[in-house]
Amino acid sequence: ADISFLFSGLIGRSWAMVFAAGGLKVKLYDIAQQQLTSALESIRKQMKELEESGFLKGTLSVEQQLALISISTDLKAAVEGATFIQECTPENLELKKKIFSQLDLIVGDNVILSSSTSCLLPSKLFTGLKHVKQCIVSHPVNPPYFVPLVEIVPHPETDPSTTERTYVLMKKIGQSPVKINREIEGFVLNRLQYAVISEAWRLVGEGVVSPTDLDVVMSDGLGMRYAFIGPLETMHLNAEGISNYCERYREGMRCVLNTFGPVPEFSGEIEQKINQAMCEKIPAVPKVLDTRRKWRDECLAGLAKLKKEMKSD
Ligand code: NAI
Repeated sequence: ADISFLFSGLIGRSWAMVFAAGGLKVKLYDIAQQQLTSALESIRKQMKELEESGFLKGTLSVEQQLALISISTDLKAAVEGATFIQECTPENLELKKKIFSQLDLIVGDNVILSSSTSCLLPSKLFTGLKHVKQCIVSHPVNPPYFVPLVEIVPHPETDPSTTERTYVLMKKIGQSPVKINREIEGFVLNRLQYAVISEAWRLVGEGVVSPTDLDVVMSDGLGMRYAFIGPLETMHLNAEGISNYCERYREGMRCVLNTFGPVPEFSGEIEQKINQAMCEKIPAVPKVLDTRRKWRDECLAGLAKLKKEMKSD
C-alpha cells in the first residue's frame, strides 16, 4: 500500500475513499475483522450511491477504486511499504499515544506518521518518539470527501520536509491543505468555529434573536460568501481594499467587539432553550438525524461541484 489508515471508523473510512479516488493504494487496519468487513461494505455502498448521483470523485470507476483498498488486522502488515500512515483512533490521548509508540518501533526513517486528531496538540502526541521528525497532524473536516480542508500542524521537532511532503500529498489527491505554523489549542478551524458558536450562544441567551433565526444569519448570510471567500478577502472586497476597510470600519468594529460577553458555560437554561428549538426542527433521534446528515452531505457535494466550476485562482 502507498497509504495506511489505522482504524476504520467514520474518519478512517472517509479518508480511505478520498485517497482511493485519488488513485492511491490504501490499506485499512483495525483490531476486529468484523469492523473492517463492515467498513468495506459501507465504503462500497457509499461509492455506489455517489456514482448514481454523479458525485463519485476521481477518474476511476467504483470497482477500480475498491480494488485499491485492502484490509488487515495485523499492524505490521498494514503499514508495510507505506509512505504515509494516517491514524484515525477515537479522540483519546492515551489510545493515540499507544498506537504511535507501537508504530515508532516498527517503521523506517522515511514514512510519515500523521494523526487525524481534532484537538490534541502535536507536543502531547509525539514528544519522545524516536521518529518525531516524521510526525505531523493532518486534521480533516467531516466529511472529508466533500469538505477538502486539511489543517497540517507540525510538532516543534517535525522536519520541514515532513510538512512539505504531507502538503504535496494532500494537494495531489485534491484536498485543500493549509500549513499551521505552530501548534495552538483548537488549531485554526476550531478557533474560528468556537468564536462564532460563542457569540451565537450569547445572542440567543440574551434573547436578541431566536435559535433558528440565528442559524439563518449564517446559512443565508455570512455562509453564502464564506463558501467562496474568507473573512479577510471579504473585508478587502467590501471596501476599496483592506486599508480602506480599516479606515472606514475600524472604529465601528472595535465598538461592537467591546460589547462581546465572557466565554459561555454552554449549559443550563440557554442549553435547554437551544436544544428545544433544534429538536422542534430536527428531532434528535438517529433516523431523523441521519436523514438530515444525508441531505447536508448532498448539499456539500453540490457545493463542491459548483466550487470546482467557479475556480478562479
Ligand atoms: P470513530 O469512533 O468513528 O472510529 C474510531 C475507530 O477506532 C473505530 O474503527 C474503532 O474500531 C477503532 N478503535 C480502536 N481502538 C479503540 C478503542 N479502544 N475504543 C474504541 N474504538 C477503538 O471515530 P472518528 O469519528 O472516525 O474519529 C477518529 C479521529 O478523527 C478522532 O481523532 C477525531 O477527533 C478525528 N476527527 C473526527 C471528525 C468527525 O467529525 N468525526 C472530524 C475531524 C477529525
